[in-house]
Amino acid sequence: MPKVLVVDDEEANRVTLERIIQREGWEVMHAPDGRAGIDRLRREPVDVVLTDLKMPGMSGLELLRAVKSLAPDVEVIVMTAFGTVETAVEAMKEGAYDYVTKPLRRQELVGSLRKAFEKRGLILENQRLRDALAQERGGGRGEELVGSSLAMRALMEELQQIAPTDASVLLTGESGTGKSRVARLLHQRSRRAAGRLITVNCAAIPESLLESELFGHEAGAFTGAVARKEGRFDLARGGTLFLDEITEISPLIQVKLLRVLQEGEYERVGGTVTHRADARIIAATNRDIDAAVRSGRLREDLYYRLDVIRLRVPPLRERAEDVPLLAATFLDRFATKNNKVVRAFTAEALDALTQHSWPGNVRELENAIERAVVLARGELIGVDDLPGAVRPLAGGRAALSFVVGTPLKVVERKMIEETLRHAGGDKVLAGNLLGITARTLYRREAEWAAADRGEPSGDGDPAQNDDLI
Ligand SMILES: Nc1ncnc2c1ncn2[C@@H]1O[C@H](COP(=O)(O)OP(=O)(O)OP(=O)(O)O)[C@@H](O)[C@H]1O
Ligand SMILES: [Mg+2]
Repeated sequence: MPKVLVVDDEEANRVTLERIIQREGWEVMHAPDGRAGIDRLRREPVDVVLTDLKMPGMSGLELLRAVKSLAPDVEVIVMTAFGTVETAVEAMKEGAYDYVTKPLRRQELVGSLRKAFEKRGLILENQRLRDALAQERGGGRGEELVGSSLAMRALMEELQQIAPTDASVLLTGESGTGKSRVARLLHQRSRRAAGRLITVNCAAIPESLLESELFGHEAGAFTGAVARKEGRFDLARGGTLFLDEITEISPLIQVKLLRVLQEGEYERVGGTVTHRADARIIAATNRDIDAAVRSGRLREDLYYRLDVIRLRVPPLRERAEDVPLLAATFLDRFATKNNKVVRAFTAEALDALTQHSWPGNVRELENAIERAVVLARGELIGVDDLPGAVRPLAGGRAALSFVVGTPLKVVERKMIEETLRHAGGDKVLAGNLLGITARTLYRREAEWAAADRGEPSGDGDPAQNDDLI
């Protein structure tokens, strides 16, 4: 039910107004002056403040300003006697919704109030719609995973289940797939959300500094350690510690990390006091972590401590059906950010986006859309606004034809060469299209070069050929 706060110094007026407003079925409260009005407003939300302009103490204009700073979306209607209309106009300039002149006419007053409620209702409804849309789009505060593919829905479901636990999580997936974003979500949906999410990029911090970064140090622990410093484990107490690029930590730090994970204890560098760790650990890598363990780069015991729950964030090419939704989300975001009216993609542009293999995953898509929005000259993003690698070649991909019985080696070489040309020489991209690794492409090129020079080929050696499908 709409609620009105009446502020008037004359009691007779308050009583009359109360009666009129109640007859409309609206709720009403009143106050004899501005101060009391503000007090009411603080205690109880209202939709509209109806105030006299001329009052002893706080004037109606002052009250208006107070309301606007206290509760900006509350509408204010001022009542003005004949002769003070100028003040009423001033009030309108300062954000009053309307003014009514005294002596009051019931119709005029009720009409003005009704319009004020409508406006407020519209604004609230609009806000509600926008929130719902943001929710639906997975926008939220930008902290959701956009995507409706089976793979993403499964990931989100799993995330929802494990977020509230304290179990260590190992995130794997190619660069740009959204591992850091998943880590943030895990933290936000955990019981530790009130604590901090502390990220350590293990590859970016020089090895010599990593220990003191993680565990902190005491004053004088080493040259340059002038003051005592808290480590990331200290900062993450009660929260989450996100260890990014976990395969990049040195053997020494691995031992120290293992101890924290096993015993929940650590000492600062140069310190003797033992501290208890209280952080949930999330680790991530875009490398093949099992290979890192096999090669001895990552300790097996540490690996088992980290790999309690493993989440694999799939590459974008495995969930091409997410591309349109992601693209639309980024389009909205960058159009707003750049203050441009860009509304959608042309059908061909959307096609090209969906066809592309996105070796750089969501990050590459995000960058491509930002660039496209900046370049777009109209309301639509066309193929020409997309980066070269995404754009299909004129006339689409070239076709190759072979006579039946053509040696496979010839077919293979032709196909690889043409695909490489199509990909503008990008071996990762070409490899993705062909379903082989970039390394295989390099090896093939070396073999052809050798063959062209008349050197013997590695034909008889099966070990050299086992990497092609
Ligand atoms: N599902 C998603 N919905 C919306 N945005 C996403 C999604 N996945 C990734 N992004 C965005 O794509 C970009 C790359 O994601 P992120 O940094 O999380 O990747 P990453 O896997 O951690 O990469 P790296 O291995 O290089 O650290 C970020 O800007 C992120 O916000
Ligand atoms: Mg990351």
